[in-house]
Amino acid sequence: MIGDIIGRAGRRALEEHLPRLIDKYSIDFTVANGENLASGFGLNRKTADEVFSLGVDVLTNGNHCWDQREFLLLCDEDDRFVRPMNFSSHAPGRGWTVLETAAGHKIAVINLIGQIFMGPWDCPFAAADRALEEIPDDVSAIVVDMHAEATSEKMGMGWYLNGRVSCVYGTHTHVPTCDETIMPGGTAYQSDIGMTASYQSIIGMKVEGALKRMVERLPQRFEAVERGASIFATVVTIDTSTRRATNIQRIHIPPA
Ligand SMILES: [Fe+2]
Ligand SMILES: [Fe+2]
Repeated sequence: MIGDIIGRAGRRALEEHLPRLIDKYSIDFTVANGENLASGFGLNRKTADEVFSLGVDVLTNGNHCWDQREFLLLCDEDDRFVRPMNFSSHAPGRGWTVLETAAGHKIAVINLIGQIFMGPWDCPFAAADRALEEIPDDVSAIVVDMHAEATSEKMGMGWYLNGRVSCVYGTHTHVPTCDETIMPGGTAYQSDIGMTASYQSIIGMKVEGALKRMVERLPQRFEAVERGASIFATVVTIDTSTRRATNIQRIHIPPA
């Protein structure tokens, strides 16, 4: 799993390292969060295709989902895109998807979004239950991206789905946490994967504008830092006969 990929800096870092990482760790399936792919704000066909071509299998989303208007149409065209299941029932796109690995294992990916310090979304817990009812029984693993601000809400989702899914991990804060664990039911858990972006920034954005906005409280443009990205990612090993996780490992590739 790869957290939020921020703009060109994030895409460049993946271009440099992802194919090698997939090889080194014998990765069968890669899920990344794409809500900041296009200059930090949403994603479009071009930026999505760039990361798909590097080996990303599914792009999850979040509160920046509709920042690029073309995604309103795009999200229905391609089953490699998921957006939070608990968006309004009027939202286009899908909240879960199932894709096959090269070895023929079907992997389900569910995307949820938190309610604490975030928008007025529908209940993510009820949405998770609904997704699990809908997902076919023959999947070999179920992976959940819980895109949320509050660590407590992400941990809550981890325990809510403990034993029912293979992995619950957080995205959105852009800061990695070191709390990776395997819960007693065999669910791998980490509160936040962290961003693939420059950490010489304020959560991926240029410091000057972001700081001015905080200090002066006046409108300022957020601009993504375009160079010097680190990759933070997490590798989970899943027993496909039980759907239980057997290992979880964080990896960090510092900037070149
Ligand atoms: Fe993000
Ligand atoms: Fe977000």
